Amino acid sequence: MTILNILTVPNLDLKKKCSKVEKIDDEVKKQLDDMLETMYDAPGIGLAAPQVGLLKRMVVIDVSKDGEEKRPYKMINPVIIEKSTETDFYDEGCLSVPDQYASIERAKEVTVQYTDENGKQQTEHAKGLFAICIQHELDHLDGKVFIDYLSQVKRDMIIRRVKKMQRK
Ligand code: NI
Repeated sequence: MTILNILTVPNLDLKKKCSKVEKIDDEVKKQLDDMLETMYDAPGIGLAAPQVGLLKRMVVIDVSKDGEEKRPYKMINPVIIEKSTETDFYDEGCLSVPDQYASIERAKEVTVQYTDENGKQQTEHAKGLFAICIQHELDHLDGKVFIDYLSQVKRDMIIRRVKKMQRK
């Protein structure tokens, strides 16, 4: 498996809308494995394909805690089919926005439908951190990063900080 390079803001690939995966072949399976490995290595709890420069609708997620058994999800063409009207705030971060956090409001519960790596349709009802992570990762597939929910002033400040950090 390969650890992939994670793009950081303001890389333009992070602003692009990703296209649907039409065929689940060995290349797609390898990319999902590499994404998962890259996420664990970072470490992070979610990673979307555009964050490693792949403009495909694929995400990997594992919100299990340290010491718990790993619970990896590889989601292909995921779609949120139901969202609770009740929302919650959570201090979010992102591997593409290293060391920066902001409180973001999202639906408390979601139902996501996706294809797994064996081509099987799956439906998952999620709440808590898993629900937040699904919404955050799926945003990436439409070119949206969590800082896009902030005011322009705050967003620019965060991007400046990330650029400064990358120069070091
Ligand atoms: Ni992210």
